[in-house]
Amino acid sequence: MANQYDLIIIGSGPAGYTGAVRAAQLGLKTAIVELEEKLGGTCLRVGCIPSKALLEATEKYDEAQNHLADFGVNVDHVSFDLEKMLQRKESIVNGLTGGVAFLMKKNKVTRYFGRGSISRSGVVEVVQESGEKEELTATSIIIATGSKVSSLAGVELHGNIVGTSTEALSYESVPEHLVLIGAGVIGLELGSVWRRLGAKVTVVEYLDRILPGIDSEIAKEAQKIFKKQGFEFRLGSKVTSARALEEGGAVVEVEGAEPLHCDRVLLAAGRAPNTDGLGAEAVGIELDRRGFIRVDEHFRTTVPGVYAVGDVIGGAMLAHKAEEECVACVEKLATGYGHINYAVIPNVVYTHPEISSVGKTEDQLGEHGVDYKKGVFPFMANGRARALNQTDGKVKVLADAKTDRVLGVHIIGARAGDLIAEAATAMEFGASSEDIAAVCHAHPNLGEAVREAALGVAGRVRQM
Ligand code: NAI
Repeated sequence: MANQYDLIIIGSGPAGYTGAVRAAQLGLKTAIVELEEKLGGTCLRVGCIPSKALLEATEKYDEAQNHLADFGVNVDHVSFDLEKMLQRKESIVNGLTGGVAFLMKKNKVTRYFGRGSISRSGVVEVVQESGEKEELTATSIIIATGSKVSSLAGVELHGNIVGTSTEALSYESVPEHLVLIGAGVIGLELGSVWRRLGAKVTVVEYLDRILPGIDSEIAKEAQKIFKKQGFEFRLGSKVTSARALEEGGAVVEVEGAEPLHCDRVLLAAGRAPNTDGLGAEAVGIELDRRGFIRVDEHFRTTVPGVYAVGDVIGGAMLAHKAEEECVACVEKLATGYGHINYAVIPNVVYTHPEISSVGKTEDQLGEHGVDYKKGVFPFMANGRARALNQTDGKVKVLADAKTDRVLGVHIIGARAGDLIAEAATAMEFGASSEDIAAVCHAHPNLGEAVREAALGVAGRVRQM
């Protein structure tokens, strides 16, 4: 039957499209349902990819304006063209979303355009924008519908005046004063984009620190660097309301402090599961207290044959975690075996400098009373970092005091996002800090800082 599949995946983000390709490779007749015209989900359309496109463009501008002279390169009259930056971002998004559509075709995954909902076990209804309906059946259904911005009591969204990351990726002019609600990843990445182009950026954060979840020593160092870049931080400050004003601009009210007047507000206080219109509860799919879909270790929901992966089930809200989960789920369905190692999921913040981590933070090891050793190496002492003129930051390796097994690696500095791959690979193989230290690293290379930090665990740092 034409509309009958082995597997239907609802949602075409990194989880859905990667899982669909894997399913097709394993011989499953697969369909993917997506309500947006473009495939690729939040990550490709309005998340990871467009934000990186703007971060890259604005970093180049900042470098030309403020740092090239340090290299003896003189550039007069540096200016930027925001429209072109935004167009470039769009064309990157279009290229990649088009690439996903091509991948679906190439792997013979059937794409359905519309809102997918589960009407009963094994049945997905797709409703197109025109209202036209189609019923599909499948042995297995995977929900991979991702997340949406969390609302915050008192914050009234209003176009791009009081908006979310989606609006902040497309401001048609540089805000004069941008207030960020939340000092998490989204706020700091997008705040970096607009600060580099000249906006005054104020970050209001409820906690007494930035970047929750990141090793606190690294987060403290990051805050110092961001402050030097011009970010203004109001930590320990709770936003109680934000609204657009009739006369233009917006006001943000903060508990126990003067209200902030600005022309743009970016709400970046976390994300919530996207179960809108899915019909989950009606068919008996249980949600937890916060609305995430409840699953067991095999991603099974409370309805037989229905699985869920990615942001919609909670945990780290990261594209690559979602992707791993969907592939593991599909492999388990097709082969009886699927695996994901939650202990080794790298995390990258694409600010300048970048921040990355994998494994346990020092805070977590302390909380759990783990006896650990620590090796640290500053980029200031790394030859390549000096040549790059990017000497801020350091690498920190944490290893078990008894076995020397690497428990966590935390990096702030040049290309930290790329450097973390070595640490993740080492940890996946159960490496000790001595194992990393024993590997010959090319010179002069930023990776040597990872090796030196590993050597530092045993007090054997050599380069200075
Ligand atoms: P987040 O959870 O990282 O940070 C939100 C911040 O808002 C927290 O520090 C929280 O204390 C603060 N907050 C909450 N209520 C507040 C209030 N009333 N007043 C002031 N501050 C308040 O959330 P974010 O940045 O929205 O990111 C959402 C998710 O997206 C994260 O899980 C993140 O991992 C993921 N993401 C990952 C990226 C990456 O890997 N590079 C990039 C962007 C997002």
